[in-house]
Amino acid sequence: MVKGDNVKNVAVIGGGIMGSGIAQVALLSGYEKVTIIDLNTEILEKSRQTIEYRIESLESEEKFKKFISRYENTSEARQNIDFKQKMNEFKSVGVIAHGVDTESIMSRLKTEIDISKGVNDADFLIEAVSEVLDLKQKVFKQLSKYSPPHTLLASNTSTISITKIAKFSERPEKVIGMHFHTFFPIFGMLIELTPGEKTIDKSLKLGYEIAQKFPCLIGDRFTVQLEKESPGFIANRIAMAGSLYYSWFLEEAIKNGITLKQLEAAGISFEGADHIGVDTIYNTAKYFEENVSPDFAPSKRVEDLVKAGRLGIKVGKGYYEWNENGPIKDLEPVEEKTTKYIQENFKPDIFLAISLNEGCRLLEEGVVNSCELLDKVILKGTFMQGPFVRGKDKYKELVAILDEIVKKTGKLYLKPCEMMKSGKFLSYK
Ligand SMILES: NC(=O)c1ccc[n+]([C@@H]2O[C@H](COP(=O)([O-])OP(=O)(O)OC[C@H]3O[C@@H](n4cnc5c(N)ncnc54)[C@H](O)[C@@H]3O)[C@@H](O)[C@H]2O)c1
Repeated sequence: MVKGDNVKNVAVIGGGIMGSGIAQVALLSGYEKVTIIDLNTEILEKSRQTIEYRIESLESEEKFKKFISRYENTSEARQNIDFKQKMNEFKSVGVIAHGVDTESIMSRLKTEIDISKGVNDADFLIEAVSEVLDLKQKVFKQLSKYSPPHTLLASNTSTISITKIAKFSERPEKVIGMHFHTFFPIFGMLIELTPGEKTIDKSLKLGYEIAQKFPCLIGDRFTVQLEKESPGFIANRIAMAGSLYYSWFLEEAIKNGITLKQLEAAGISFEGADHIGVDTIYNTAKYFEENVSPDFAPSKRVEDLVKAGRLGIKVGKGYYEWNENGPIKDLEPVEEKTTKYIQENFKPDIFLAISLNEGCRLLEEGVVNSCELLDKVILKGTFMQGPFVRGKDKYKELVAILDEIVKKTGKLYLKPCEMMKSGKFLSYK
């Protein structure tokens, strides 16, 4: 296994939303060469332009402020970045803040259509192709065939088992999950590292070293290593349980004659889905349906969007039509029945109850063995307090809420688990 300091060349397979973001942080980590591999030159050119634009935005505080202002709904954390301080912290980068320009950084970026050429001198590679198991298995077979034997192979999958992805690779011991939690890696602190059944410790150790080196503009990079794999790891596993209820909430609204436009007018936004990619959301739900519970089957609404090719920002349309200023919205006044529906069905404690239950399941399954650590993962990934700190003192009340929503939605997956009902989680650190 190659040592962290000897990792010189990085390859990123898939130059879409995540591949572009990962290649950006890899370039800023100072690697000698970063190669993106994708299916055709048009995609690769688009990826190159995205990265260049994002790196240029770091050239000065003025450019950075302008760049950030394009993201109207940008979080407070993004607005409050101390640009000068952050640039000086980017020691590993040794770049922009220290007088190196975008052009020289971009000269380290290569693009390639032929995977056998793109990975043949990579020391570390990370796969970020679409969230489809067969595709990832095919790619990993090629990766183990064409990359040098010492190369560490990572997948940025959001949900899929690393054991399954590594199945046809010739070196499953060197395959890890390295999941960047946000669609914009430089703005997200959290990276989840996951072993497959055959992954060896040395692979995880090197993965940790590499992950911690990726620069992050908001706070310090936070890489967490899971005890074992689980669909959706920690953060997405909890998010998916919440989305099960959220999806019911939307379908039920429509059944009651409340349109998505009405919900939007009342402050419920669908922008996040367009950023993530509606196809990624669909594929994730499918994976959960097949591997966790049939309750997770994608909704007709999501299925229809995918069929219509409305995949989100990456194609310029999804829930919204997008132009260079953002999503085009034509809001309508909020009707009383919409407000009432939201007040009755969108209470924060419902989502807290679901998150606490899922956190307890992760303890039960041994994916994580500390409530504090799980809370930290949620805080670093979402900027919100975790479910244990928020819910532990009123867990009995939250159990009752879960019983109620199971009755209301018919989603049996939301039943409180033993660990939550018994309060046994309180004995964990
Ligand atoms: N979008 C998110 O918010 C997000 C966050 C974390 C992780 N992820 C995960 O990252 C991965 C990529 O997601 P994305 O949002 O970047 O998707 P995307 O659709 O934006 O990009 C996928 C890219 O893979 C390319 N591709 C497909 N088959 C290929 C092949 N055989 N060889 C090379 N390239 C190929 C496609 O052309 C496309 O450019 C998925 O596993 C997803 O679950 C996504």
